[in-house]
Amino acid sequence: MEFSETVRRRRMVRNYLPDPVPADVLDRVLDRARRAPSAGFTQAQSFVAVTGADRRAEIARLAHEDEYVAAGFDPWLSLAPVHVIICTSEAAYRARYSEPDKAGAADAQDWPVPYWYVDAGASLMLLLLAAVDEGLAAGFAGSHSLAGIQELLGIPPEVMPIGLVTLGYPAPDRRSGSLARGWKPIEGVVHRERW
Ligand SMILES: Cc1cc2nc3c(=O)[nH]c(=O)nc-3n(C[C@H](O)[C@H](O)[C@H](O)COP(=O)(O)O)c2cc1C
Repeated sequence: MEFSETVRRRRMVRNYLPDPVPADVLDRVLDRARRAPSAGFTQAQSFVAVTGADRRAEIARLAHEDEYVAAGFDPWLSLAPVHVIICTSEAAYRARYSEPDKAGAADAQDWPVPYWYVDAGASLMLLLLAAVDEGLAAGFAGSHSLAGIQELLGIPPEVMPIGLVTLGYPAPDRRSGSLARGWKPIEGVVHRERW
């Protein structure tokens, strides 16, 4: 698929067919997500891929899916055949920037922007686009229960889950009300030569 077409087709999908995602397809999507750039090539982005129905149901419970369904939405998380929890690690960046080739840089540990979140976002985007490229759909769910997900999945304390991506073959879904905002015109977001 042309890259521009992949970008155009991508949108957050919150309802899926029950068909499982073949293991080789999931492996390719994850392999692409791990190719995201990372500051100092720290590569602290990591992923927990969950396909077991019981565990997905528990994640859905932690994310208060029942309240979401009561509000009229599809049972998004529990029915999605795959959850990928995207993780990052501030500790890994601090360790990397203590290595000899980085430690000499002034303020090496004083980032004006937390790169661990920047790089996790880059992985998130690659994951979403790789899914479309494989004929899948994907959706990102933030969660207020990340600590619960961390415990459930045995994610070590120095690693931080930032949210989860659902993957599967798309079913008709109810789009986010936020989309009514429409895309801002390009002049509203791109400034040329100066703001
Ligand atoms: C950081 C981030 C967090 C989001 N969290 C949620 C979420 O918790 N639940 C949800 O339904 N959508 C969530 N979204 C999806 C956005 O609402 C969606 O990307 C936006 O409305 C644009 O729609 P589109 O991605 O389908 O083009 C999130 C998106 C991002 C980038």
